[in-house]
Amino acid sequence: MNSDLQLTKDFPILDRKVHNTRLVYFDNAATTQKPEAVMSAMTQYYQTSNANVHRGVHTLSDESTLAVEKARKTISSFLGADASELILVRNTTEALNGILYGWALHNLAEGDVVITSQLEHHSNFVVWQEACKHTGAELKVIPVLEDSTLDYKWLEANVAHAKLIALTYVSNAVGSVLDVERVVTVAKKVGARVAIDGAQAVAHMPVSFKSLGVDFFAFSGHKMYGPMGSGGLLVRSELFKSNEMQPWLFGGGMIAEVYENKTKFHDDPIERFTAGTPDVASAVGLAAACEYLSKIGMKTVEKHDEELVAYAFEKLQAIPQVTIVGPTSKRVGSVSFLYEGVHSHDVAQVLDSQGIAVRSGHHCTMPLHVANNWIATTRASFAVYNSKEDIDLLVLGLQKVAEVFGK
Ligand SMILES: Cc1ncc(COP(=O)(O)O)c(C=O)c1O
Repeated sequence: MNSDLQLTKDFPILDRKVHNTRLVYFDNAATTQKPEAVMSAMTQYYQTSNANVHRGVHTLSDESTLAVEKARKTISSFLGADASELILVRNTTEALNGILYGWALHNLAEGDVVITSQLEHHSNFVVWQEACKHTGAELKVIPVLEDSTLDYKWLEANVAHAKLIALTYVSNAVGSVLDVERVVTVAKKVGARVAIDGAQAVAHMPVSFKSLGVDFFAFSGHKMYGPMGSGGLLVRSELFKSNEMQPWLFGGGMIAEVYENKTKFHDDPIERFTAGTPDVASAVGLAAACEYLSKIGMKTVEKHDEELVAYAFEKLQAIPQVTIVGPTSKRVGSVSFLYEGVHSHDVAQVLDSQGIAVRSGHHCTMPLHVANNWIATTRASFAVYNSKEDIDLLVLGLQKVAEVFGK
């Protein structure tokens, strides 16, 4: 397979120059660029159908309602879920907070255990600290092994009394991939719910919520070529039916009847969990992103990612000053590294001066960085529009770091 999918033409921003050179964008784990198809779907919605949903009995309102529900179907089907299992939110962080406010505060108590890991993005860490603070449950943190994969044996030995296991599918810091099946097997032994932070998985590999067999799955649309402010929380439908999962936003749109002394919420879970005016345009844009990815084919996307990761690994490993961090075998989406004697912010700045955008710092994974004594790392993360040629430019760019810092 050609490692260049030749998709740059679909992304207008990739035409621009940074410091008078072609932009090489390797900050895709933070947010991806958006294809023309996503932007034009959103513009089209605003130009033809914009109106508030449900409330108006008029043509535009009906079209708007249809647009958001069609988008919900497209997005949920892309992720192997039913439309009735998808709550649209702004990003992964909001989705995880939805589990905190909609589930954890109602279902956790003293004596219960919540398990997360050292590998997590702060968004899948701080919420569980808060959950435990407010309910008296205990937070346990799975340590990572030397290659930044999880110590599953530790999980198996410490799972007693767990009510929730919340883990990232793909690490944004080192690209390691969770063995979801193993986690679900362990969780089932004690009846714990499983929440997956899918932020770094959805743009890189096929995902089927139903096949994973987890209870919650959080993701950001803006990291999968969709607009900023788009994302979702998938919730297994049984949790809605049993009212184990409760609404966490209240007000207009989510009610059936309101009286001075009581309110009845909507029976339909999607209505019940959509308080206020939904962001129809973002939903439409995210649906267009799902269609865009489906057209390429997620198997092709996955293969492309594997090739870029392997190529970057090989090329970066050959640079004497570079130490790649994280797993040596399976990794998805990114390669992170330390550059001997130079802080990652300086590395990133020298690369930026050559039009290459990478991320530097702790990538919102302080527990992982502290556990490994890394002050900061540099991350190149990949997308469908990146090619091996881009990685060659990154390698050339790093030679300049050596020149500037004399290292
Ligand atoms: C693994 C992971 N979880 C959660 C988040 C938070 O995503 P957002 O900022 O879109 O809420 C990120 C963002 O980088 C991430 O990589």
